[in-house]
Amino acid sequence: MIPPKQVQDILDATRIEEVIEEFVTLRRRGVNMIGLCPFHGEKTPSFNVNPARNIFKCFGCGKGGDAITFLREHENLSYIDALKWLARKYNIEIQETERTPEQVAEMQFTDSLYIVNDFALKHFQEQLFDTDEGKSVALAYFKQRGLREDTIRAFGLGYAPEQRDLLIRRARATGHNIDLVKKVGLCSQDGGRDFFRGRVMFAIHNISGKVAAFAGRTMSSDKTIPKYINSPETEIYIKNKTLYGAFQAKKAIRQQDECLLVEGYMDVISLYQAGIENVVASSGTSLTEGQLQLIKRNTNNLKILYDGDPAGIKAALRGLDLALEQDLNVRICLLPDGHDPDSYVQTFGGEAFKTFTTDNAKDFILFKTSILLEETKGDPMRKATLVKDIVSSISKIPDPIKRSLYLKECSSLLEVSEQALISESNKLISTLLKKREEKAARQPSAASDSPPNFGGYEWPTDPPSVGDPVDTAPVFPPRREGEGMSRSDEFQERDIVRLLVQFGNQVLDKEGVSIAEFILVDISESLSDFDNSLYGKMAGLCYDLLLEQKTPDQNFFIHHPEKEISDLAIDLLTSPFDMSHNWEARWGYPLQNQPIPDLNFDADMRQALDRFKLRKLNKLCNVLNPARIKAAAESENMEEVIRLMRIQEKLKSTRNELAKKTGTIVLP
Ligand code: CTP
Ligand code: MN
Repeated sequence: MIPPKQVQDILDATRIEEVIEEFVTLRRRGVNMIGLCPFHGEKTPSFNVNPARNIFKCFGCGKGGDAITFLREHENLSYIDALKWLARKYNIEIQETERTPEQVAEMQFTDSLYIVNDFALKHFQEQLFDTDEGKSVALAYFKQRGLREDTIRAFGLGYAPEQRDLLIRRARATGHNIDLVKKVGLCSQDGGRDFFRGRVMFAIHNISGKVAAFAGRTMSSDKTIPKYINSPETEIYIKNKTLYGAFQAKKAIRQQDECLLVEGYMDVISLYQAGIENVVASSGTSLTEGQLQLIKRNTNNLKILYDGDPAGIKAALRGLDLALEQDLNVRICLLPDGHDPDSYVQTFGGEAFKTFTTDNAKDFILFKTSILLEETKGDPMRKATLVKDIVSSISKIPDPIKRSLYLKECSSLLEVSEQALISESNKLISTLLKKREEKAARQPSAASDSPPNFGGYEWPTDPPSVGDPVDTAPVFPPRREGEGMSRSDEFQERDIVRLLVQFGNQVLDKEGVSIAEFILVDISESLSDFDNSLYGKMAGLCYDLLLEQKTPDQNFFIHHPEKEISDLAIDLLTSPFDMSHNWEARWGYPLQNQPIPDLNFDADMRQALDRFKLRKLNKLCNVLNPARIKAAAESENMEEVIRLMRIQEKLKSTRNELAKKTGTIVLP
């Protein structure tokens, strides 16, 4: 526990702009400061910091709060750790009060693992810098590989001499618990031998800079000795969520809005030393989803540098669909024969490296298409497989605009008609969708928390509710005309009409505005966009009445000469499942005869409207506008494409804001 008085001291000392500037480049605009939002990818700044009020707010993604919120979200810190972070920054000494024994035990366990690793780091560094053997063997090795001393320190490099139990003895002598030394894998399970012996050492940091693990490289070129050995997984080292170099790189990744991915520890270190700091390594394995998410938190742009042979590269490409699913823009750069990033930059320098990788990076899909294409020449069977393979990759991309542009591009590369590719892609997507629906249906409870995110596809954000048919279908872009609408779309429209029929003539506010007026003015632009023609017709009827200065009441609908309208009206007025769940929960049935409590009604209606608009916006964003963009792209009207792309951005941000709002409306 940090005493309240000290919490206050910390908060008083905190200048939000100083905190955020450690992560985001800000510039002044009037009383505010603005920058590129670190929480979502953007090209024009909508991230605002208000120094006077000590708060931040992003108008793009909606995130906002104080410095503590920022640190918690951005650095994944707990409240207490955020306070401690600030205390450190502002040199405020914290005197913590007593914790409960359980709290102490819990915190102490992971803390103690870090403490052991810290001890080991110091030990390895001492062995490297302060012993004769370290200097003549290990430091010489690093220097011979072109590393400077500041780099060696920045990456926590060290040396473990060839001795049986040097680290264990040092740990004992300094009062460390040997069980913990075993736990982090620094010695054998019987406590008799050091794990790392006769190797140069690499500290592996977690994203906030704590030492989570180590890797040791042999200096021998004997092929029978493993080149690297690594710490085992522990509570503080989860391999598939760790990227080597991420701590050192994250600021540069955000600033440059790009992440370079290499294979090896040495590649990261050499590039960093040459001024290319936005670089991380997957440590020789294929990228995992956890690692991709780590990247995604900082940028949408991933550039992968390969040095392997063609066979190895092809294998690696297969793993990359995962990155597409995360909606990352993936580019691939092959290094010239015989070079890896480390050797390239050590030979030619940072500037040459930058030029080379800028000039030679290729879009992943196009790259994959062209290298696979080369080997299928004159073999129609293999070409068919290849087409499937490529389309399958493209189908993983959540953004429909990108998908259609790729299909177009690949159609000419592959010399297959675009229409064929589109229908192949649609087939794959609908299979994918069906699988997900089935899965969602099998696990209904899973859908009730936050909206699930299946590989980055956008899901409707309305909270599921009683009376709201459970929405199992994502708002999935390539829903072709005439394929019918999702039940949820249907429900939103029905809910609007339900409100009109049931309460249309009720007066909403002191100015005497009726509910029908309120609703119809609000959605007048979408009147022609109703998917269900009957609902659209009902809304249109009401609108016409309003134009004649009349207000529709229940009788108007019930006694309407057109049977489908009167039937629907009666249905809406009697079917309990059409009631918004809020009504059901709060007032029970029948509702029609009860007085309407204005405020609650208001909230019910506004929510229905918001959800309705959200549906429409989703449709515009996911289907209609992309189709326009595609059409413009086809007729090679680039100006129109650009204009529509801008509209798309705007639509998306409006939609996201609305989604957030409907997701957070709390009804009494
Ligand atoms: N790797 C590993 N264990 C091995 C070999 C490799 O964990 N036995 C991982 C390491 O993360 C290594 C990466 O795979 O950094 C790439 O391997 P490699 O290119 O051989 O290593 P470099 O880091 O390039 O090392 P060096 O340049 O010193 O050969
Ligand atoms: Mn190497």
